Amino acid sequence: MKTWDVVIIGGGVIGLALAWRLRHSGASVLVVEKGEPWREATYAAAGMIAHCDPGTPPALQAMVAASARIYPEFVRELRAEAFQSPDLRDAGTVVFLGDDELPSCAGARLLDDAELTQLEPPIRLRGRACWLPESSVDPRKLGRALEKAARTLGVDFVTGAAVNEVAVLGRRATGVRTTKSFYAADKVVNCAGAWAGEIKPLGMPTRPVKGQIACLVPQPGAHRAGLQIQHVIRTPEVYIIPRSDGRILLGATVEEAGFDKRVDPETVRRFQEAAAQVAPVIGEMRLHDAWAGLRPASPDDLPILGATSLPGYYAATGHYRDGIMLAPVTALVMTQLLTGHKPDFDLAAFSPLRFG
Ligand code: GLY
Repeated sequence: MKTWDVVIIGGGVIGLALAWRLRHSGASVLVVEKGEPWREATYAAAGMIAHCDPGTPPALQAMVAASARIYPEFVRELRAEAFQSPDLRDAGTVVFLGDDELPSCAGARLLDDAELTQLEPPIRLRGRACWLPESSVDPRKLGRALEKAARTLGVDFVTGAAVNEVAVLGRRATGVRTTKSFYAADKVVNCAGAWAGEIKPLGMPTRPVKGQIACLVPQPGAHRAGLQIQHVIRTPEVYIIPRSDGRILLGATVEEAGFDKRVDPETVRRFQEAAAQVAPVIGEMRLHDAWAGLRPASPDDLPILGATSLPGYYAATGHYRDGIMLAPVTALVMTQLLTGHKPDFDLAAFSPLRFG
């Protein structure tokens, strides 16, 4: 019977990045994905690498900063191996701050009205604007590139197969079971995102947190308005993310709605209105599509990273709003852990054991 060094449950951005990195370290890897790789939270994600967001929990700040730091090299390697670009854009973010908020990120700078107009001419909104040295990627392109790089390097995939349980023998994980098959492995990692709780006997306590996003394109024959916007723009009402092909994404809701992925037209209209107030040129764009994704949140909103109480069984999930941003550093530290090295970061705050 074939056996792998590591079986990864879930082919989202975390599972794929980890599979790729593990394979680089020489491990044989199988990804078992219930649907198709990167078609859930990764597919729905906005793609901001928002390491300056003051909402980042203190326990996560060092890892967030490290992930932002290594992102360019991660993308460079990915492009070299997959011959695909995840559209890493590094013009930065313009954020509109509340009266009592101060920019706390190295390299951030407050913008007066003239500087704001010079930096991003289509913005008409006025307020306490600040430029942040952040970047963004297109998560679908990132997922596609990671899958390609992993497959090219020899990672095996089983798709359309939901893992029901981690197999246990002699109080140790020995692989995973789907309804149809058993896949033997030395180590198992639960990267199942919002579905991480469904794996027996030790599900990880994640829950889905819905986010709705709208995607705009220029009107047929109109000037390519989207291409005029260079920066990610964040206001309390909406974030605006330009892609290099002229699309603009508007997001996102944060909803406790179970596994519901329906889109509410009124929400989409609100996003469009809010974005048009920021930059009227966006109001001239056409709604192309809208979708909702399910962020995997843990009970304390921190990721779940590390060994579980079952020897051989690990978790890398619960990245909540930061899965795209944290993929490189998660792949790094989990590869270190799974290959017997000391992780670059103390993972105690993220341990699966903290939930009892
Ligand atoms: N990371 C963006 C969001 O969760 O909406």
